[in-house]
Amino acid sequence: MRTTLSFASPAEIATELLAVLAVDTQTEKGPAAKPAPTLLTSDHAVTAAAAAVLASGEFKAGANETLLLHAPAGLAAKRLLIVGLGKQAKAALHNVRNAAGTAIRFTKPRGIRELALALPENFSESLPLAEARAIVEGAFVGDFDPDTYRSERKDVSVQSFTVVAPAGSDRAAIEAGFNEGVIVGESQSFTRSLVNEPGNKLTPTIMGQRAAAMAKEVGLACEVHSTEKLRELKMGAFLSVSQGSAEPPALIVLRYEPEGVKDGPIIGLVGKGITFDTGGISIKPADNMEKMKYDMAGGAAMLGAMRAIALLKPKVRVIAIVCASENMPDGKAYKPGDVVTAMPFADRPGKTIDIINTDAEGRLVLADGLTYARQLGATHLIDAATLTGAIGVALGQINAGAFSNHDTTFEQFKTGLAVSGEKFWRMPLGDEYADLIRSDIGDIKNTGGRFGGASTAAEFLHTFAEDTPWIHLDIAGMAWIDENRPYIAKGPSGFAVRSILEWAKSYAS
Ligand code: BES
Ligand code: MN
Ligand code: ZN
Repeated sequence: MRTTLSFASPAEIATELLAVLAVDTQTEKGPAAKPAPTLLTSDHAVTAAAAAVLASGEFKAGANETLLLHAPAGLAAKRLLIVGLGKQAKAALHNVRNAAGTAIRFTKPRGIRELALALPENFSESLPLAEARAIVEGAFVGDFDPDTYRSERKDVSVQSFTVVAPAGSDRAAIEAGFNEGVIVGESQSFTRSLVNEPGNKLTPTIMGQRAAAMAKEVGLACEVHSTEKLRELKMGAFLSVSQGSAEPPALIVLRYEPEGVKDGPIIGLVGKGITFDTGGISIKPADNMEKMKYDMAGGAAMLGAMRAIALLKPKVRVIAIVCASENMPDGKAYKPGDVVTAMPFADRPGKTIDIINTDAEGRLVLADGLTYARQLGATHLIDAATLTGAIGVALGQINAGAFSNHDTTFEQFKTGLAVSGEKFWRMPLGDEYADLIRSDIGDIKNTGGRFGGASTAAEFLHTFAEDTPWIHLDIAGMAWIDENRPYIAKGPSGFAVRSILEWAKSYAS
């Protein structure tokens, strides 16, 4: 998708389709209160062209509601699309992002390949930079479709997307927001295309190659290690997961070191990269097992965030570690009852892990990933993983779970959510959960029973993050969308890329 920014009045834009946003300004409640759809543009030609239909009551400006006019009088555009943001009082930046996605997804199946969207005027207190960025992000989100392996791809891509900003507006801010939006949008699409790949097309080795190619493109340092290096580092937990697979594991390390930044924090991003999770010897039921190709979504989110960081260039050092492996049953696979030794840290021996269930593999690869990030000097850690089904049961496909051992670090993460528009809900850690994963034979068990599954999993990771400020994101319920929405296709969501990016940026000097 080609994206351009144009400073002009919307009416002058010669395009296949011009989209403008609208809010419902009705504040009264009750049966007599009629919706009052109001366009967010000061362009008189556009308001005149839409006046009759807005007065008709057919369009209520509900969130993601659309209305199309052909040959609108007085406009250079061939069509005018109005997209609703919902009630004015409630409409926020994420509604603008979604509305841009809705406009794109309206356009695609109609074979229209060109879209211009007018930046909303007089919309809440959002800054023009944030609005421009959200619109471009939303357009990329909407443009992605998962049908990459269909012989005749259905809706292909919108070829040209133009953001139209009023001539008198704050050019520098809008340009900056626009440029950021392109970087973030493309990075999120990079993540989504990785997550979309089937297990046979994206083995750990291939994930490593895709990471290396991306790193080269954006100027990141990248190393991809395999079994031998894992043995050298004594990553017994990570190795135990990979030993049942014919595909070797990949330990992907990306480094972003901006010039002139020699001290201050080092941000460590650690991602779960299980390219296919069968459950191993504790094998999963057949129903829905095919979806377990998305079990590398946390790792892919870290790669997308690193891509955006490399291009946005914040003044803070960042390391990313993705632990990529398959989880397979095999003659050589690890088994329930096995005891494995995790990577040692500093002068202390690795902790021993009592394997209760080989399907709790994510926490094992992350244990060594977190330790390695600390060994490489990370001062602040974040991990992302499709870690537990339990988090989906608790929070639905609405919020992802977030856990932290450090309140101010978590608050800093939370601040970024206003920009990312992603929903996370803080979940509890605590000694009571840690008690549930105490082992009789070794230091720690890899599962804690049926209750509190997301928290015992998080507490398992806490054992390895120890007292380094750390955030754990359980995105199992959010990384894959089961039904089409007006602004995003079903399939991989790219969830968490934007929030991880904002958090890392917040440490820039
Ligand atoms: N990858 C799964 C978690 C998952 C479930 C992700 C559903 C996405 C959708 C993880 O490896 C797993 O199997 N977790 C087990 C843990 C259990 C054995 C303690 C689970 O949640 O059932
Ligand atoms: Mn599993
Ligand atoms: Zn898994």
